[in-house]
Amino acid sequence: MTEKIVLGMVQWYITHTCNLSCAHCLSYNNYRFHGHFDWDRTRARAEQWSQLIDIEDLTVIGGEPLLHPQIDTWVSGVRALFPNVVDFKICTNGTPLKHMDRAQIRKWFDMGVIIEIQCHSLAIWTQIRDLIRDLYWFGTVELVDSADPALLHRSEQLVMVNGRVAAMIMLTDRFVRNSVKSHNKRLEFYDNDPHSAHAGCYIRDCHYMIDGLLYKCGPVAAGRDLAKQLPVEDCAAQLFNAYKPIDPFDSDVHSRLSSLSSHIDQCRLCPVFGDIDQETLIELEPNKTKLKL
Ligand SMILES: C[S@@+](CC[C@H](N)C(=O)[O-])C[C@H]1O[C@@H](n2cnc3c(N)ncnc32)[C@H](O)[C@@H]1O
Ligand code: SF4
Ligand code: SF4
Repeated sequence: MTEKIVLGMVQWYITHTCNLSCAHCLSYNNYRFHGHFDWDRTRARAEQWSQLIDIEDLTVIGGEPLLHPQIDTWVSGVRALFPNVVDFKICTNGTPLKHMDRAQIRKWFDMGVIIEIQCHSLAIWTQIRDLIRDLYWFGTVELVDSADPALLHRSEQLVMVNGRVAAMIMLTDRFVRNSVKSHNKRLEFYDNDPHSAHAGCYIRDCHYMIDGLLYKCGPVAAGRDLAKQLPVEDCAAQLFNAYKPIDPFDSDVHSRLSSLSSHIDQCRLCPVFGDIDQETLIELEPNKTKLKL
């Protein structure tokens, strides 16, 4: 049997739908963009992927994944195929947690699933801090400050339950620009040198899975459906549609995987960043109103 290829980071994208609107959302969920993906359509490819790859850091994501009506089917399905991933997470904006079934939270804890709670405002962060002990009612909860929160996070705590990481709480209330240059009536994108955009891209090694097909990154993965649902300028729509994601049943899957780290034509749609610093960051004021075009 051929040895499995190791991918550092894979985000398993299960819905376009989100209840918040954060400016510059990298997967465009701040627009009127919606629709859930179906585990049954994905299962065969997911099983095939589990034979081909190991993943170091795997996150179930959206949109807002906790709004997917079959969230547990997804999490349990992917987890069963990748049982040894230590960094196995669900990434949420935190707001649906107050309504979550507490037995569900316990089930995920028992399965070794970490909930990454990305709070996009101080108000949400405060609510989550108040809620966290109630969510993990079954154990001894301890909050541990991260020594070195990443640039985008103002603070970061590990939630230890019975001595094991159960969740992470991040105050992430600032973003970098996404690839939408303007959104007056239709979405217009950058037209940059793809090498330069890729060289400064902070998510170039964060690959996305949709419907069991693997994409270079979130913007390209979500871009195809974005162009179906919303007015996207022709050149960008063509580039999104031209991208060929990797199907695990393709005969060239190994060579495609080994070129995942390279730039792609679609990188021309993105801004070019030098060093990302405080000046580059945009303060968020998330609300529930989707941007109109
Ligand atoms: C696309 S969201 C999806 C999951 C969930 N709705 C949430 O907000 O966490 C996943 C994460 O991507 C990051 N993100 C999205 N857009 C970003 C941007 N423009 N700059 C930096 N990070 C971004 C945020 O940290 C966010 O938590
Ligand atoms: S909560 Fe914000 S960052 Fe997360 S998907 Fe929704 S709009 Fe994007
Ligand atoms: S298209 Fe290229 S530059 Fe844009 S987000 Fe993806 S990897 Fe980064």
